[in-house]
Order: sequence, then C-alpha cells, then structure tokens
Amino acid sequence: MRDTVHHPLFARFYARVSVAMDTRGGVAAYRDELLDGLSGRVIEIGAGNGLNFAHYPGAVSEVVAIEPERRLRRLAVSAALRAEVPVDVAPGAAEALPVKSEAFDAAVASLVLCTVRDVPRALAELHRVLRPGGELRFFEHGLAPERGLATAQRVLDRTVWPALFGGCHTARDPLAAIEAAGFEMVAYRRFRLPEKGPRLPSSPCVLGVARRPCVPR
Ligand SMILES: C[S@@+](CC[C@H](N)C(=O)[O-])C[C@H]1O[C@@H](n2cnc3c(N)ncnc32)[C@H](O)[C@@H]1O
Repeated sequence: MRDTVHHPLFARFYARVSVAMDTRGGVAAYRDELLDGLSGRVIEIGAGNGLNFAHYPGAVSEVVAIEPERRLRRLAVSAALRAEVPVDVAPGAAEALPVKSEAFDAAVASLVLCTVRDVPRALAELHRVLRPGGELRFFEHGLAPERGLATAQRVLDRTVWPALFGGCHTARDPLAAIEAAGFEMVAYRRFRLPEKGPRLPSSPCVLGVARRPCVPR
C-alpha cells in the first residue's frame, strides 16, 4: 500500500534531531506542559517518532497516535511499547482521521500543523472526533510577529523550506487556523525555540489549549 506521506530523508533527519532537541534543546519540557492534566481518550495527529508518548499523564486511558510516514511510524511503535499509558499507533492522515466522531476527550497537535497538506481540513477532522467540550492541545511553530522574519518565512515557504523539511511551512498561523475551525481559544503563550541563540524561521512558537464548544456555534 502506498503511504500518503513519503519523506524518507526527512524521517531519518527528524528521528535524530528531534531526540537531540528534546534532551539538549529543552523541548521535552514543552511536551510536559503540552500534555499536563490530560485524561481519558486522546488522539494525537502526526505523532512522528513518538516523543510525546513518555509525557502523557497516567490519567490518560488510551492514546490513538496517527502517523503517515512509515519510518517514523515504526519508531513510534517502539516508543509506544515503552510508554506508561496505552498507545495505539496507526497509519493515516490528519485530513481523514480513521476514527469515529466525538470519540475523544482530547486531541494533540505538536509541530504538525506546519506540515499537513490541508490545515482547515485537518482541524475540521479534529473538531469532528473530539466530544463537545473536548480539548485541543497544541504546540506549533508559525508566522513571526516581526515583519522582517515574516517576509523571510514567506519566501522560504515558496522556495526551499518545504522540500528540505518534509513539507514543513514556516509562515502558517496556527492560532488563526484553530479559531477559524470553530474552536474556542482557552489559553496560549508564545515563545522562541531555541530561547537563546540564533532566531530561526521556525523559532516563533505557540503552545496552548483550545476547546470544541459544548454548544455548536
Ligand atoms: C515535525 S514532525 C513532528 C512529529 C511529532 N508530532 C513531534 O512533536 O515530534 C511532523 C510530523 O507530521 C507528519 N505528517 C505529515 N503530513 C501529515 C498529515 N497529512 N497528517 C498527519 N501527519 C502528517 C510527519 O510524518 C511527521 O511525523
């Protein structure tokens, strides 16, 4: 069967760099913050090599982790075996989640809305599969508030960046996209990654919580 996402070089690169970023670049602490207080059934889209799995709190009864890239999915399966909560890794794309509607208490998107092909469709799917009142936890990089960096991001997105980094885009606006998909923004904070040192096109980050409204809007 053909994979919907095929980025073998990026997968090799990400498998190494993401581990270094977690351990030496402080990203593991953001994963803790992202998942803090979650409980019940959770769906994670674009789970990559499964670096979030070790950070899920014990009150989470099950994680369904969707990952379309074969190599990363294999690594995610190994990470799932080491996780302290049950994690079921499955192939699939965020734009067409292979799960029932309103089946999850929470959804997780970390460093993935930059890469999905169709952001509104992926967010519509997350909205569909969350129960009313369910939380979307997000940790994403995106459009810089500074005009100079934002211009550079737009140029990079039209040229080399997606080809170099597995389809990633730097100038997307995750907060605006989440609100446009019908979620209520609960709380978020912006920060730079890495916090010190050079400002990269992927440095402007946002981490927060949005909710599927209890009453349809
Ligand atoms: C930068 S990695 C982030 C991985 C992981 N979420 C993390 O926090 O380390 C982006 C991930 O999104 C996945 N991806 C790409 N297109 C996707 C899609 N349409 N639906 C779901 N995941 C996708 C990639 O295969 C990759 O695993």
